[in-house]
Amino acid sequence: MGQPVSGPEDGASLDPEDWEAFRASAHAVLEEALDRMQEARAGRVWTPLPDELKVAFDQPLPGAGRDAADIAAALTALLPHGVGNTHPRFFGWVHGSGTPLNLLADITAAAMNANTGGRDHGAIYVEKQVIRWCRELFGFPETASGLVVSGTSLATIIALKAARDARLGFASRQDGVEGARLVGYASAEAHACNSRAFDMLGLGASALRRVPVNDPFEMDTAALEAAIAADRAAGYQPFVIIGTAGTVNTGATDPLAVLADIAAREGLWLHVDGAFGALARLVPDLAPRFAAIERADSLAFDFHKWLHVNYDAGCVLVRDEALHRRAFSDRPDYLQGETRGLAAGNPWPVEYGPELSRGFRALKVWTQIAGFGTARLGEAIARNVQQAAFLARQIGADADFELMAPVSLNICCFRYAPQGLGGAASDALNAEIVVRLQEEGIAAPSTTRLRGRTVIRVNLTNHRTREDDLLLLLREIKRIGNQAETRAVMQRRLE
Ligand SMILES: Cc1ncc(COP(=O)(O)O)c(C=O)c1O
Repeated sequence: MGQPVSGPEDGASLDPEDWEAFRASAHAVLEEALDRMQEARAGRVWTPLPDELKVAFDQPLPGAGRDAADIAAALTALLPHGVGNTHPRFFGWVHGSGTPLNLLADITAAAMNANTGGRDHGAIYVEKQVIRWCRELFGFPETASGLVVSGTSLATIIALKAARDARLGFASRQDGVEGARLVGYASAEAHACNSRAFDMLGLGASALRRVPVNDPFEMDTAALEAAIAADRAAGYQPFVIIGTAGTVNTGATDPLAVLADIAAREGLWLHVDGAFGALARLVPDLAPRFAAIERADSLAFDFHKWLHVNYDAGCVLVRDEALHRRAFSDRPDYLQGETRGLAAGNPWPVEYGPELSRGFRALKVWTQIAGFGTARLGEAIARNVQQAAFLARQIGADADFELMAPVSLNICCFRYAPQGLGGAASDALNAEIVVRLQEEGIAAPSTTRLRGRTVIRVNLTNHRTREDDLLLLLREIKRIGNQAETRAVMQRRLE
């Protein structure tokens, strides 16, 4: 017998030496986090990081650590400085607003520290449950596969890789795509993650043909058919149509049933980008508009947007599990499966996507769906749709505002357009108003450009918003828009 080997019992592990003190720090962080969530309605929307905290997060690599109480204080100091999407007047881009219930899931997931790339353990069963629920929600067959991922951007890459490889008989996995001349189609209003996926899959962003939209910003399906025919005639190989359920600019939804017909007729893969809009299936009145999702070969959507799961969590569903698995599965020696033991539970999630190590995102999704149920989550979505229509009515009734796109779902694009102001001056004024609203902590809409004009874009994926918040927004736009200071900056923007 040699000398006893020194071990973690000597304090060498990274676990707390003083668990009582650690518990006190943990409870302090929890209390601060709960306070923050309970007061989500109070205070500013966006609170930029103050200079002293910017300095605190710009330090040299530390040789020695700090104690847990010190770290807890640093963490809680950060709490007010999120993007602001927990506040009821956050209307920018497409951000969900999160729920306190999610905190329980995140704490549990952190304590389990599960790697969900594969193997047979609790987290895998939770993710399978979430995927089964999603199949049911979107009318996908029981045989369809799916994966919880970081968001729609990654879900899109996964779905389009399955589509690409299926079209090329999976030879592309070894040989690449040179000479295949694959092309696909999405509307001019489709999200940039689609062309980025084409870029990342070696097809080139320009191989995603951008089909013009009609007045309500939906894909012009006659133009789509013409584009497919022209590409075929020119020797290209069409392989996918991407329909959007809820475009990022205006919330428009492409005619999905028509796209499904065209895809079937042309022998093309139908992918639906339903990042936020697909979840409107939870609203009985809206569900018919999204019914054709069940005819898609793949669907990408997010839990972190209209389901309010804390960042980040999205999903990809693929109708044909075998194709999906063939596009990703590699089981090298060190990842062999078993029928028993920890290496059981096949197929593993790693066979459906590019990540081997993965966190336990599915737990917060499970918590959200189990905790609220689809009826209540759907009601929150329905409320946002009603609020967008309410906002559009207010804008329509006020000569100082101009509605810039039809409101078909949850996004309202408009301009503050007081008499006599148009063109570039109006672009500059509206851009400046949005910056000022954000800087003053009043509200956080974002901007976009529609048909060449800058517009104020209010996106409602926020379960805390009330109609009052929208009325306040309009009042504040007018106030800021009429300030001399705003007009002066507007002039500078024009110079
Ligand atoms: C229609 C649409 N598609 C894709 C995305 C990208 O989703 P994510 O940010 O989750 O990657 C968004 C994001 O807003 C979107 O609105």
